[in-house]
Amino acid sequence: MKDGIRNVAVIGAQWGDEGKGKIVDLLCEDFDVVARYQGGHNAGHTVKFGDKHFALRLIPSGILHADKLCILGNGMVIDPEALLDEMENLRAMGVRIEENLKISESAHVILPYHRALDLAREEAAGKAKIGTTGRGIGPTYESKVARTGVRIADLIDPEVLREKIEFACAEKNPLLETVYGKPPFDPKDMLDAYLRFGEVLASRITDGPILINEQIRAGRKVMFEGAQGALLDVDHGTYPFVTSSNTIVGGVCTGLGVAPKHIHKVIGVAKAYTTRVGGGAFPTELSDEHGEHLRRRGNEFGTVTGRPRRTGWLDLPILRSSSMLNGIDEIALTKLDVLDEFNEIPICTSYRIRGKEWKTYPSFMLEHQAYDPQYRVVKGWKKATAGMTSYEALPQAARDYVRIIEDELEVKVSIISTGPRREETVLRRL
Ligand code: IMP
Repeated sequence: MKDGIRNVAVIGAQWGDEGKGKIVDLLCEDFDVVARYQGGHNAGHTVKFGDKHFALRLIPSGILHADKLCILGNGMVIDPEALLDEMENLRAMGVRIEENLKISESAHVILPYHRALDLAREEAAGKAKIGTTGRGIGPTYESKVARTGVRIADLIDPEVLREKIEFACAEKNPLLETVYGKPPFDPKDMLDAYLRFGEVLASRITDGPILINEQIRAGRKVMFEGAQGALLDVDHGTYPFVTSSNTIVGGVCTGLGVAPKHIHKVIGVAKAYTTRVGGGAFPTELSDEHGEHLRRRGNEFGTVTGRPRRTGWLDLPILRSSSMLNGIDEIALTKLDVLDEFNEIPICTSYRIRGKEWKTYPSFMLEHQAYDPQYRVVKGWKKATAGMTSYEALPQAARDYVRIIEDELEVKVSIISTGPRREETVLRRL
């Protein structure tokens, strides 16, 4: 690692599912601490390591390396039941989870009424639904901003937790019953269950900003692990079809209590084509056999929900926006091998919107039809790149594809992933 670069953010540059988990796992070796700053168990990825497949949702993939400290930051929303399940599953596969996993006391807790509201709203919205993961993410961030949320530290304070749960049930039960026709919750049962979660998690609850800043001051190297992608950011994404947190690198500062000067490099993870789950505009979406080919070959089905992902060609305007919003220093390009069999590969270089050319993603919402993506069509390589590890060995057309991305975005591609395993990676010396 170059002098002075100790702390690196690894963020999703598209609509999530870019393969961040593999990249984080791959780079982990060089870091001492891996910290998440936003989102919850709406994220999900599988890390393949030897013959084992580890499913991770809340816990950073750093946990698979026994000597890394993993931190769940204050900007996250945590479902304790999901966290304990994940811990149990990982332990059953031989992963050590002791003092190497800490949780910020200010992270917010997802409660059953958040989940119920998420699902009820989506059901009621019909065709206008967002297509959320149904995990209660949005309603929990609403409670946080409304200043009535339950925080992780409240789980070990019976009096505060009782008051907060009683207040929330008094407010949410009528909403669930009268507006959505759903059953109410009993605050007493909920209190007992969440106090038990608090007891089990107590030893991990800590002052997150102090912990991470102590690590930084001691010169330990920190990786900030993003979840979802830039276009799902609540401020800068394709609102309202977004998640409810700040997925872009700015979220590191608020979601962990880390000052900007401590973020030394940003690696943007981008898939060699585009996918998205849930509703919202998707200018390069394919609904033909090419889209189906990408879905099948890329195994584009949600890790959390199993939903088939929408697929489309590479979209440079969204990557330009993402690069601007995140200050991306390097790109990790994933799933290049999924494009191996195409004769021709269109790359969207801009949109034409009402006669005007757009090189970046417009921050206002437009109907899908209005985008009119402009494509530059390049020759496919029609050779297997799956599993390749050397840049020079890649077919010329595949290298051209990478170079076009670099030229258009003015950012270097430092990592190319050619398969799900750690070793199926091209690492370029820049
Ligand atoms: P929520 O985060 O469950 O509220 O879902 C809001 C939107 O973000 C939906 O379109 C989801 O499909 C999308 N989303 C949330 N998490 C992920 C993810 O990890 N990958 C891809 N899309 C996601």
